[in-house]
Amino acid sequence: MGSTGLAVVMVMMVMVAVAQADVKPQKDFNLQRFAGRWYRVGLAYDSPGFVPFRSLVTASMGMVVPLPNGNVNLTMWDQTPYGCVAKAYHYEATSVPGQFTYHSARHSTVKDITVVDTNYTEYAIVLKYKVFNREYTQVALYARSLKVKNEVYQKYKAFALSRHLPRDSILTPPPAENCPATAN
Ligand SMILES: *[C@@H]1O[C@H](CO)[C@@H](O)[C@H](O)[C@H]1NC(C)=O
Ligand SMILES: *[C@@H]1O[C@H](CO)[C@@H](O)[C@H](O)[C@H]1NC(C)=O
Repeated sequence: MGSTGLAVVMVMMVMVAVAQADVKPQKDFNLQRFAGRWYRVGLAYDSPGFVPFRSLVTASMGMVVPLPNGNVNLTMWDQTPYGCVAKAYHYEATSVPGQFTYHSARHSTVKDITVVDTNYTEYAIVLKYKVFNREYTQVALYARSLKVKNEVYQKYKAFALSRHLPRDSILTPPPAENCPATAN
């Protein structure tokens, strides 16, 4: 390989490193303001195993409870064939506000959760990914209500596209019917 070829390879390696490090959380992230009820009105996920379930996804409700140590309890209600099921998650704080880690015992994996952009009162764009493994990248749009402004959807779509999610994986699911029963 000539020195030009080597230079090109080195530039590409730097670009890959930058691409992985370029996700910054919301500036001055405030967990207390992020607390409370959210609806997951957008979900972008391109795992082949997930494709058959795309049409079944609904806008789940979630409840964010900040803990005194900065960690988060999250409850999500999901419409399943067995009814409305509540699932509890525990996100651990990192030294970076707006950035959390999630340990999945079931999949024995660690995921990074980054609140990329939020204005607390209307929407939040959240990126979930496995570090060093670009195969699992999920972008979610959370909103305080089920009615979402078009500009918010556009922000979410643009961000998902920037993370290389294909257009047909960027979902805006319909609301869940009566799940949980008190939500509507
Ligand atoms: C957070 O979740 C843990 C485990 O489910 C639970 O024991 C704890 O009571 C929860 N804390 C709050 C403040 O909800
Ligand atoms: C939050 O974002 C929405 C949509 O972009 C905007 O209409 C609203 O004014 C924002 N609210 C605040 C408090 O910034």
